[in-house]
Amino acid sequence: MATRKIAISTGGGDAPGLNAVIRAATLGALERGWEVWGIRQGYRGLLEDAPDGLIRLDRERVRGIAHLGGTILGTANRGDPFHYPTPGEHGLVPRDRSGDLVRRFRERGFDALIAVGGDGSMRIAHELLQRGLPLVVGVPKTIDNDVCCTDITFGFDTAVSIATEALDRLHTTTEAHERIMVVEVMGRHAGWIALNAGIAGGADAILIPEIPFRYDAIADKIRLRESRGRRFSIVVAAEGAYSEGGELTIKDAGDAFRRTAVLGGVAERVAKELAARTGKEARSMVLGHLQRGGGPTTADRLLALRFGAAATRFLVEDCGSGMVALRANRIELVPLAEVAGKTKTVPLDSDSVVTAREMGLCFGDEPPGHFTER
Ligand code: F6P
Repeated sequence: MATRKIAISTGGGDAPGLNAVIRAATLGALERGWEVWGIRQGYRGLLEDAPDGLIRLDRERVRGIAHLGGTILGTANRGDPFHYPTPGEHGLVPRDRSGDLVRRFRERGFDALIAVGGDGSMRIAHELLQRGLPLVVGVPKTIDNDVCCTDITFGFDTAVSIATEALDRLHTTTEAHERIMVVEVMGRHAGWIALNAGIAGGADAILIPEIPFRYDAIADKIRLRESRGRRFSIVVAAEGAYSEGGELTIKDAGDAFRRTAVLGGVAERVAKELAARTGKEARSMVLGHLQRGGGPTTADRLLALRFGAAATRFLVEDCGSGMVALRANRIELVPLAEVAGKTKTVPLDSDSVVTAREMGLCFGDEPPGHFTER
């Protein structure tokens, strides 16, 4: 049976470009005479009976939204249908509502779902298929760029641009005060933002989850700079970076609905340790949600529009379920089973890591004497 009525959902943390995906996917479907609906706040719009839980997406509804940040559908990171917050005797308890979701999806007459989200959303989409959802095309989103099987996710370029601009600005004040500045960027399991912004923004040290660091190695780098007359240093740390033998810096342990901890505070920890080791004044700052705010860069907007159009195209061409991916600048559909439960981390031999090392940037893993030997 040809697909006629589709639903779109956006789940997990937002990323600039979500609205561009919604627009392109919707226009592609409307061109074919299909009906398109948006599910509000992840899957909440389908699981709860609010009158505006489903939004009819027509040309007017998706007009002029490609450049806007956020998502016109809203999103949720406590809306996993397999652990859905449901009122119990003593407050909210997690319940498996996946069966309800599939039933309601079918009752509404939907033929296919376009699920826009990160690694968690792709896992959920894969499990929903196994529970009986007819057809799902996933679209990879996250500023962290850590979704597997795609070269890049939309939102990442915007986050890197924002972090790079922040580093550019921090240079003047950090140099004026001859301080150490430690800047924390997002990246739970992968250091893509820290690595790219750190290189582009001229950081002196980059700390990423893929390379556990030693405080002494960073302090050595700072002292080396001092000996060359550079009396200030800038360190970029991914929120998921940790020291050798150390642990993640956790702000909130998470709960039964959002089962991943909220990270935060590594920059402050690093700043204190570096101040103690070098005797220099050190400050820290967390860029936080600024990296996800506002509209997408042109590159992200284009990528999101390509992803959205491709999601509908794959449905039209009856390619089955999967995730839209960019591989060597070609858009492909990859099996959700290949994506689900995996994380794309920074390869330690990647050109970017090598470039940074060749420019003398410090990852905090350098052996003693590494810099003085140069
Ligand atoms: O998944 C993207 C991300 O930006 C992570 O790097 C970060 O840990 C998380 O979102 C924070 O999301 P929130 O504050 O919305 O829970």
